Amino acid sequence: MEPLKIGVAGLGTVAGGVVALLQRNAETLARKAGRPLALVRVASRSPKRGIDLGGAAFTTDLDALHGPDIDVVVELIGGEQRAAQLVRRALQGGQAVVTANKAILARYGDELLSLARAQGVGLGFEAAVAGGVPIIGALRQGLAANRVLTVAGIVNGTSNYILTAMAEQGAAFAEALAQAQAQGFAEADPAYDVEGIDAAHKLTILAALAFDMSFQFDKVYTEGISRITEEDLDYAKELGYRIKHLAIARRTEQGVEARVHPTLVPQRSLLAGVGGVMNAVWVEGDAVGATLHYGAGAGAMPTASAVVSDLIAIARGGALDYPVGRRPHKVLSIEQATCAYYVRIPSLDAPGVFAEVAATLGRHGISIEGAIQRHRAVRSGAGSGSWVPIVILTASVREQTMTSALAQVQRMPQVVGGIASIRVEHLMG
Ligand SMILES: NC(=O)c1ccc[n+]([C@@H]2O[C@H](COP(=O)([O-])OP(=O)(O)OC[C@H]3O[C@@H](n4cnc5c(N)ncnc54)[C@H](OP(=O)(O)O)[C@@H]3O)[C@@H](O)[C@H]2O)c1
Repeated sequence: MEPLKIGVAGLGTVAGGVVALLQRNAETLARKAGRPLALVRVASRSPKRGIDLGGAAFTTDLDALHGPDIDVVVELIGGEQRAAQLVRRALQGGQAVVTANKAILARYGDELLSLARAQGVGLGFEAAVAGGVPIIGALRQGLAANRVLTVAGIVNGTSNYILTAMAEQGAAFAEALAQAQAQGFAEADPAYDVEGIDAAHKLTILAALAFDMSFQFDKVYTEGISRITEEDLDYAKELGYRIKHLAIARRTEQGVEARVHPTLVPQRSLLAGVGGVMNAVWVEGDAVGATLHYGAGAGAMPTASAVVSDLIAIARGGALDYPVGRRPHKVLSIEQATCAYYVRIPSLDAPGVFAEVAATLGRHGISIEGAIQRHRAVRSGAGSGSWVPIVILTASVREQTMTSALAQVQRMPQVVGGIASIRVEHLMG
């Protein structure tokens, strides 16, 4: 059989893993693909000593990947504009593409998939979400018979590492972030991770596949973990919850909820047990029920595992089976979302405050499912006397209703500081 001729763009972490895996498992891969997977050329900004290209040519010219001697271009340079340009040009020229780049899919997914379909070539992006966890394949194939109701995932290893360190070691956010950086998990500029943008890119892709809808990155509500305090982690624990950074897409009668934010999940739920840099995606389908897909969300070899699985699919003539005619689907604004809330209210240590807060929530139709009320002041605020936190768990409510109720509580003279609120999800397997 003719080999599948591969050109790789980039020679960093993931590309290094791909080049190594193609050599290490060459025989197995050829058997599974039905033909050899042959690395023909690698194009990157600079050569890397110590990486064995196994006889493939090296060039610094990315354009050298477009030609009849390359069947599939593997885009592993990251970033947006140059990567998108490379992928477009490959597809336009009839080359298949494999990419690990969630940013370009989140932004240009509709365009790139239409282009691949029009050209009749494969476009694989298993590595773009949750690294080595085969969640794209699960949504495209294994779970294809289902009407998916909810997808919720821990899809950013850095945020999960930080929240795990805060919960387990009592570290402050800045300290946990510094630890993640020292271990090489977070970028020098960690904003994409801790502000939730990376997770929002991944959620855009998951929602598009789960709900057969267009890629609508700009409609995803995005909130990071930098506001989470040790105090909230402690109260959450006391109430039987953990705080995780979740990317959630849910089908509702009114439209699709798509939101990324810190979330309280029950301590006994499977997602609560996902610690450190691990990733997990929870998918609930109407036929299968709840499923959980867990594994390493990053790293050279786990990510290479996903990239090379796409190469096998393309060698067999696959990675083409995306639903045709994606529907736009209305993405709801965060005000239209519905969930339960954890609320922490710093209030004066005076009688009747809790009752007044409860009454205000009650007037908005919000019921209280759990509470912690300290009977002694935990802190002394300068000028405001001693105060206590009132911590409340509510039942499910529309975000808009919650926002207006909390605005009213915030105006109470006994409330002496900013109210903290975190959404709650009861995702049980
Ligand atoms: N790292 C992970 O665990 C992981 C997991 C899942 C997905 N991904 C995705 O995989 C992609 C690659 O990530 P990575 O971690 O491998 O990145 P990386 O280590 O920074 O590697 C990027 C490589 O591309 C080269 N490059 C960047 N811009 C270029 C340009 N304009 N022209 C030519 N070469 C260029 C770099 O050259 P230099 O060596 O000269 O800088 C480097 O070799 C990204 O889209 C990322 O989001 C990564």
